[in-house]
Amino acid sequence: MPRMTVPEVIKTKGQRKLTMLTAYESAMARFVDQGGIDMILVGDSLAMVVLGHEDTLSVTMDEMLHHTRAVTRVAGNSLIVADLPFMSYQVSVEEAVINAGRMLKEGRAGAVKVEGGDSILPQIQGMVKAGIPVMGHLGLTPQSIAHFGGFKVQGRGEAGEKIVQEARKLEEAGCFSLVLEAVPPGLASRITSSLNIPTIGIGAGLECDGQVLVINDLLGMSTGPGPRFVKKYADLAGVISEAVERYRREVQNGEFPDESHCYKDS
Ligand code: KIV
Ligand code: NA
Repeated sequence: MPRMTVPEVIKTKGQRKLTMLTAYESAMARFVDQGGIDMILVGDSLAMVVLGHEDTLSVTMDEMLHHTRAVTRVAGNSLIVADLPFMSYQVSVEEAVINAGRMLKEGRAGAVKVEGGDSILPQIQGMVKAGIPVMGHLGLTPQSIAHFGGFKVQGRGEAGEKIVQEARKLEEAGCFSLVLEAVPPGLASRITSSLNIPTIGIGAGLECDGQVLVINDLLGMSTGPGPRFVKKYADLAGVISEAVERYRREVQNGEFPDESHCYKDS
């Protein structure tokens, strides 16, 4: 199976649904890549899911690159999209192009993703001009958490209009697809039908051209209830806790290691 490409992602619009999942390291990336998922997102959710931060603001370019390399080393089928972290592209076009370039050149990603609309259009144009495919991200953009005052649904009522317009401008600026996060399904549907590039929803309803989830959420590895849009396809938290507890018990009881897990004398 040849690797998924940016032009193919665009071509799926109206033909079939796109699938995207996050991965942050090689073991999980192998499962996702072998599972026929179109795109792997090395999300800056890395900060929360793997690095233990309470939001996505603290993760650095070097940390994102480190994890992107772990994914690109093993995944040969999916298109790999790397998130540009907070403050790696907001300040200037030059910084955006340099940092996005590092994600392709050092990280070997196939594309980058950035959050926001009007305020980063020049950056997007600059990156695209440099030959770097860019995925947009509107709605609940977690790098703006301080501005929103929490992880809250975006684009209800009047505020939806601004997102519709920004989506158009992102397409014009050269984005090859667009993530819509935590917006009402009606708004996501309107945006999807008004664009020529595919939309990828997370908490944005069924009408998007594709869907994305955080792999740890999908596997039920995250603690706490999580956002409304998460569907748990497995309960790995339960499986892992039980395995750890059994191991502890068996070591404490002297049941492990038994004969079958020991080397023979000769
Ligand atoms: O970082 C991330 O995981 C994301 C997805 C939720 C879209 O940006
Ligand atoms: Na992200």
